Amino acid sequence: MYPQSFSLDNGTTVSFIEESPRDLESVWGLYSTLGSESRKTLPPFNRKLIEHWSRSLPDYTFKPVLANVNEGGVERVIGRASLTHDSSPALKHRAELGIVVHDDYQGKGVGSNLVLFMVHVARAKGLRKLTLDVFADNPRALHVFVECGFVKEGQFPDHYWFRGEYHDVVRMGRVL
Ligand SMILES: CC(C)(COP(=O)(O)OP(=O)(O)OC[C@H]1O[C@@H](n2cnc3c(N)ncnc32)[C@H](O)[C@@H]1OP(=O)(O)O)[C@@H](O)C(=O)NCCC(=O)NCCS
Repeated sequence: MYPQSFSLDNGTTVSFIEESPRDLESVWGLYSTLGSESRKTLPPFNRKLIEHWSRSLPDYTFKPVLANVNEGGVERVIGRASLTHDSSPALKHRAELGIVVHDDYQGKGVGSNLVLFMVHVARAKGLRKLTLDVFADNPRALHVFVECGFVKEGQFPDHYWFRGEYHDVVRMGRVL
């Protein structure tokens, strides 16, 4: 059984919990307070989109996982990872990983632990491969994914138009 929680250096416990519709406000709390550097690395989002994700939860094959901490008696969502899945016969063996960790908790091992937890979830659900797209100018994310066993499968120049400029996108994958 893969650990569902781990401890930060300061002793804070981070728990990984399947998202449910009652987490809507906590998930919005995570996204709506992200710093500008983190926002730059993610596709655009707004409250309507987060509500749509929450409403769609019952339809998801794989539920997103939230990273939770208890801050002085108050539960807070500080990270989220998702597995986007296409159930068509040619694609159902793989899923696309998405991840975000709140700025307040970046650089403390949450991202790496959450990626490895999602690898475990994917394996346990019988998936064969995880893939993801990451902006080429996101060195921290690239580092974390390589550390977690993902390999670069290709790079697509000017693949994404975002905030007034084109971005190269790196496609990464890990066969499980
Ligand atoms: C990418 C992200 C998920 C990583 O989560 P995290 O909790 O910060 O990751 P960790 O603390 O586990 O690890 C960070 C690692 O990056 C390294 N790192 C930090 N800045 C770096 C940089 N500029 N270049 C290379 N490596 C860097 C750290 O040294 C650490 O590596 P180590 O464990 O080998 O020492 C998080 O930063 C995030 O949510 N960013 C904004 C959203 C995003 O980019 N999502 C991914 C889109 S595909």
